[in-house]
Parts: sequence; structure tokens; C-alpha cells
Amino acid sequence: MATHPAPRFPDGFLWGVSTSAHQIEGAVQLREPSVWDVFTAGPGRVKDGSTAAVACDHYHRYREDVALLADLGVDAYRFSVSWPRVNSPGGLDFYDRLVDALRAAGVRPVPTLFHWDLPAGLDWLERDTASRFARYVSVVADRLGDRVDKWITLNEPAEHTLLGHALGAHAPGGELLFDALPVAHHQLLAHGLAVRALRASGATDVGIANSHGPTWPASDGPADREAADLYDVLLNRLFADPVLTGRYPDGIGELMPGDVPADLKIIAEPLDWYGVNYYAPARVGAPRGAETGFGGLTLPAELPFSVRGIEDRPRTDSGWPVVPEGLTELLTGFRDRYGDRLPPIVITENGCAYDGLDDQDRITYLDGHVRALHRALEAGVDVRGYFVWSLLDNFEWAEGYARRFGLVHVDFATLERTPKASYRWFRDLLRRQGRRTR
Ligand code: BGC
Repeated sequence: MATHPAPRFPDGFLWGVSTSAHQIEGAVQLREPSVWDVFTAGPGRVKDGSTAAVACDHYHRYREDVALLADLGVDAYRFSVSWPRVNSPGGLDFYDRLVDALRAAGVRPVPTLFHWDLPAGLDWLERDTASRFARYVSVVADRLGDRVDKWITLNEPAEHTLLGHALGAHAPGGELLFDALPVAHHQLLAHGLAVRALRASGATDVGIANSHGPTWPASDGPADREAADLYDVLLNRLFADPVLTGRYPDGIGELMPGDVPADLKIIAEPLDWYGVNYYAPARVGAPRGAETGFGGLTLPAELPFSVRGIEDRPRTDSGWPVVPEGLTELLTGFRDRYGDRLPPIVITENGCAYDGLDDQDRITYLDGHVRALHRALEAGVDVRGYFVWSLLDNFEWAEGYARRFGLVHVDFATLERTPKASYRWFRDLLRRQGRRTR
């Protein structure tokens, strides 16, 4: 546990917490199905056999959750808008109510327009899904844009491509390995089209939430370095380079479908800020001709790299290593790589899975990362905000309800919310940064 108060961040720094629609809303009968509803109905997809049919029932209990945000004292709340809900009668009314409640509580709404819950029947392998996304974004922006000024297009297209389409661990369950690359391109195109749609509706504060982490080669040997470079290209640069520089990393553009140079112009629409979700670095080496583990997953032997453990670190309940300085390394590395092309950064997710109400391990994790973030600021990286993942324990995708990321405990039998020690720790941190409970 930290003994010194966290350092002071600049005035105007945006403190927040994040959630996503599918993980908390429930009320599935009031909307069209998403690919996640279809996926979880299949046997053995989710570890505890659960679904998000009720989840935290946030759809009905959002007022209580907004009160928790106000009591916490955050500046902003990052949530996601469910595309299948917007497609359903009365669906947008829910986000109207949520946005109004947040504003009345003095909390700035920051919607993400896609956090993996694609309407069932749509497919990111199809180029047309990108244009459909842009049309949906226009509908949401026209409705909420008078009260929302900060927008996020996509959440983690990297994980959605890798887990959902390459490895089959997430919805829609594709196991296409490298044939999943068009899914990445179409999401990136959807991002660029969404930026244009948001701008057309008057938005002036637009970003993306991409997941990133340093890649550490398993050794200095050429085979390990080459494998780590490839991993870094696939997980980091494939999603950052086109958005920030208008180019794919060498060798990737040729693998993408469509008129790639024309698409890249759209993908590289200038952003007002760039969102980074950070959890942990990866140590990567040459393939070993056998399956390897990766964050609870099994990676097939035929991949051109293998993910090794970072053994000398504490681990969260998800088995992810706790490496706060990886955040400083990531951000200074981004500044060095992208230079003037990098807009201000916002950490759109950072957090960890631990059980228990007296979650000292989560406090240690978050405290370490807030300090690591401050070191990046001191090193001259322009970081403007930090959002904890997550406000509530929730439906943690293929892990079901077994992994608890919340500052607030949710009893999934009674749906009772109970703030954890980490909630109080974050509230104190916010007070020291000049924020007040509302
Ligand atoms: C996702 C969240 C998820 C969190 C923890 C991120 O990859 O955006 O939806 O719950 O990580 O796994």
C-alpha cells in the first residue's frame, strides 16, 4: 500500500471510470440481440456458463450508479452505447436518460460507440459494416450531441480482432488466425468514417480507445527479437500507425482488402486525443512449436511467436503481471515513435481483477499506475486524463462473473452494490486533486 499521497496532476486533468454496455446493462429483452448474446448461448463459451442477460441490471439501476459516480467525485464517466439497443424501439431513450442524469450529477458523459456488442447478423468481415456503423453513429450523435461533447469511436479493435475473430475466445467466435486481418481494417475504416460522422454533427472532441502495452523480447537473440517485433506490429502498431500516421506497418497494407490507400486517408482523420487502454506488457519469444498460454487463453502452436510469462511480478486474479512502469515505458515510447503526430493521450482504461471488499491489491495496482502515469507527464508526454476500469464488477466476457474489476462490488444474486476499499481510495485521491463529492 502506498505511503505517500499521489503526486498532483495538472488542473483540468480528466479523472474518470469506465464501463461498457454489454458488461453492465442487462435488459437484453428490450433490445435486439448482439453477437455476444448469440455467442454466449453456445455451450462452453463462458467459463462459468453465465450470460449478460441481467449483468448489473444497470439499465434499470442507472440512477443508483450515477449516484455512486457523483459520490466518488469523478469528472467523467466513460460508458458505451449499445448499437443493438439503439436499433430497438425506445433504445436511444435510455441513453438520453443516462446522459441527463450524469449531467445533473455534474459528471461528464463520455460515450464509446462500439465496445464489441455488434448487432447479431452483422459481421466485421464485411466492408459494409463500416458504413452501417457510421450511419448509426450519426443517429446517436444527432440525438445526444447537444449534451455530449467528448466521444470515443471504438474500444480495442485489436482485442476484438484477436479474441473475437482470430482465436475464437470472444464473440463472434471466429478462429481465422491471420485471415482475421480484414476485421481489423474494417473496424479502422469504421473508426475513420465515425470521426467524419461525428465532425459532421458538430463534435470537436473525438478519440479512440486502443489497447497497448510494451512488448518485451524473451531474449536478445534474433529469433526472439523478430517474434517480439511481429507481435508488437500485430497488437500495437497495426492499430496505432494507420490512425496516427495514415500508414500500415511494413508488410501489412498488402494483406488488407479494398482500396487501402484511399481507406487510410479516412482512417487517419485527425483526432483531438488518443485513448490508451493499458493493463500489462507482454514478454514474447520465438515460436516453440507448442501451444502457449496468454492471459488465460491458449495460443495455437502455428503462430509465429509465443507469449512467455513475466514470472518475477505479482499477478492479478486474471494472471496478468502487475507492471506499473510498463505504462511509463509505453507512453514515452509512443511519444518517441509518433512525435508531433501524437495528439494528447487519455488513459481510457487501467485496472485489475481481484476479489474481496478490502481490495488492497487493487489499491496497490492503481496507485502504482497513477504514479507511473505521472512519471510519463514529468517526462514530457501530454496526458490529459485517466479512467479506471471499472466502476462495477461486471460480465467479464469469456470469464463470466468470476473476475471482479470493480471499484464497487456487485452481488450478482441481489444486485446490491457495495463500494470497496479501492473506491474510497480513489475518492480520496480525487479529493487531493481538488475534486469534490457531488
Ligand atoms: C476491455 C474491457 C475488459 C477489460 C478487462 C479491456 O480489454 O475493454 O471490456 O473488461 O479489458 O479484461
